[in-house]
Amino acid sequence: MKTQVCIIGGGPSGLMLSQLLHLKGIDTVVLEKHSREYVLARIRAGVLEHGFAELMREAQCGERMDREGEIHDGFFISHDGVLDRVDLQKYSGGSSVVVYGQTELTRDLYEARDKMNGVVIHNADDVKPHDLTSDAPFVTYREGDEIVRIDCDFVIGADGFHGVSRKSIPRDVLTEYEKVYPFGWLGVLSRTKPVSPELIYAKHERGFALCSLRSQVLSRYYIQVPLTDTVEDWSDDAFWAELKRRLPDEVGARMETGPSIEKSIAPLRSFVAEPMRYGNLFLAGDAAHIVPPTGARGLNSAASDIYYLYHAMVAHYKDGDDSGLENYSAKALARVWKAQRFSWWMTTLLHTFPDSIPYDQKLQQTDLEYLFSSEAALSSLAENYVGLPF
Ligand code: APR
Ligand code: PHB
Repeated sequence: MKTQVCIIGGGPSGLMLSQLLHLKGIDTVVLEKHSREYVLARIRAGVLEHGFAELMREAQCGERMDREGEIHDGFFISHDGVLDRVDLQKYSGGSSVVVYGQTELTRDLYEARDKMNGVVIHNADDVKPHDLTSDAPFVTYREGDEIVRIDCDFVIGADGFHGVSRKSIPRDVLTEYEKVYPFGWLGVLSRTKPVSPELIYAKHERGFALCSLRSQVLSRYYIQVPLTDTVEDWSDDAFWAELKRRLPDEVGARMETGPSIEKSIAPLRSFVAEPMRYGNLFLAGDAAHIVPPTGARGLNSAASDIYYLYHAMVAHYKDGDDSGLENYSAKALARVWKAQRFSWWMTTLLHTFPDSIPYDQKLQQTDLEYLFSSEAALSSLAENYVGLPF
């Protein structure tokens, strides 16, 4: 098989790039390790920054998002028993975010690929990139007993944090930066009316909590838990009781509870791999960097990678201009690190750290007081939350 761009990974990053390139007449093949059912059963975050929503529209995939997604002009931070609102619209100069589940978004991207007869190969086992520093790279995968070879001009590593692409870059070329946080998030999805029309990020001495939503009948809640906890340690009743304890009384009192549809624990980690290019391999999204979910940056830092790669590929194929490809790693990493900084800051501001000393706690308290007493600080939070320009 032959294609122009071979994309490893059929998550949002890989599918979005495939769709955008297809619309410009550039041929792609997407290789996904899992079945479509498996990919679409994964529950992921649900806040899209303005720039990502625009990219969905450019990819001709924005129709359902625009119909069913909710525009949020602000969110709350709960602390010391009170709710303070961050007016995103006011402090970001008119921007907002779209609340739309990443699972739904992935479904829309798959549908768009199908409609255009895009090639997405599921259950591709043992995917391996080869000859990445040559002009003729290729990717192989196993289909039953057969090894299939795909020749291409470029390989895109969009195969998430545990994928094969980053691992195929030699150790002496790659530098990895990592910070692991001493807690996780226990998340629950429930068919209940969300307690608040806007998200509530809650700082509490017992630990952080987050009230989010997927729709007016589907809520997504999280609480900070020790890394040693398992899902079995948390009955639904125990979860709701703990969530309510971490919120202001009046919020807890109006919380609608119900059986969990999904319950899982995710550890919190910050990670960046540099560079994001090796020969003709380009990393994008979670394959190159991950953030703790506190700033809702996960998918959004993938968005700028896709945006830069998309424009770089179009310039290469249409104008013979390789400057975008040459600058890709530096340009992508500059924005990636800003998303890293913001996610680390939100995480540090709002969580209870098991090893914190009284001095750290005073600083955390002061950071919050400063935030709600300074228009400049609120502007800084808002411009990062709605997404820095690409
Ligand atoms: N071969 C082929 N596909 C692979 C391989 C492999 N060896 N390893 C992983 N994959 C697939 C995964 O099954 C997954 O569907 O690559 C895809 C990567 O998708 P994501 O993990 O969703 O990463 P990405 O598309 O970059 O999306 C980033 O998703 O993970 C969230 O929080 C993250 O919001 C961010 C967004
Ligand atoms: C979610 O809805 O899952 C969600 C929202 C905001 C975050 C993290 C997760 O910061």
